[in-house]
Amino acid sequence: MAGPILVFDSGVGGLSVVAALRQRLPSAELTYACDNAMLPYGVREDDWLVKRIVEVCGAAVNVSGCVGLVVACNTASTLALDRLRQHLDVPVIGTVPAIKPAAELSRSRHIGLLATSATVRRPYTDQLIHDFAGNCRVTRVAADALVVEAEQMVRGKTPDLSRIRDALAPLDALHDLDTVVLGCTHFPLLRDWLSGAMTRPLRWVDSGDAIARRCAQIMPITASRGSVETAWLTALTPELAVGLRAHGFKNSCSLVID
Ligand code: DGL
Repeated sequence: MAGPILVFDSGVGGLSVVAALRQRLPSAELTYACDNAMLPYGVREDDWLVKRIVEVCGAAVNVSGCVGLVVACNTASTLALDRLRQHLDVPVIGTVPAIKPAAELSRSRHIGLLATSATVRRPYTDQLIHDFAGNCRVTRVAADALVVEAEQMVRGKTPDLSRIRDALAPLDALHDLDTVVLGCTHFPLLRDWLSGAMTRPLRWVDSGDAIARRCAQIMPITASRGSVETAWLTALTPELAVGLRAHGFKNSCSLVID
């Protein structure tokens, strides 16, 4: 079986997972899909989201001829992974907050979870914390404003440091907290800005490399052999196409949802 691995997100956040995949699997052929017409997912209602995610991923899997799907979105994965696996006949890998490694790395036993409004309150997240961070205090902070900053940055605009500081203020105030889970794939794109906005050094943990390792284990990898990689967008805009080109997706196309 030959074909690209499809990386899906609501917007540009999946590019942080693409970076981890390119690092670990440099020759693998990738394709990208995003539902930027409906961004942000993190403030939307669950039932609507499940239906939409299944529709968009189904359409993207069909049009791309992919060998497997990486749901590079915590907001989608913590809600719709089971439904996607029922509907699709390719392997599906999800992205969920890296609570387990963060709890293992924290010395102070106080970790932060920085994610979308939806992810911080999901039962899936409660279960991850229960299973893997039982001996830690976990402070959850919803930071949907950072999704907007990452979207702007990929379109060539400088992120707004004061908005980033405001989003991080609840974590910065907790002096015994030493580790923060970046539980939204948009946030690793802003890592330098996040570090710069804090008044002290913190450990930032994301899921990118764990996903890349899982892909290496279970996905049939096709070497790209220089083929032009495509991005599929539910709203095709020139600014986004330029941003995606800088991440290797030279061709941008409309993804039509019936
Ligand atoms: N990148 C997505 C995630 O990992 C969420 C962004 C959004 O709210 O659409 O959760």
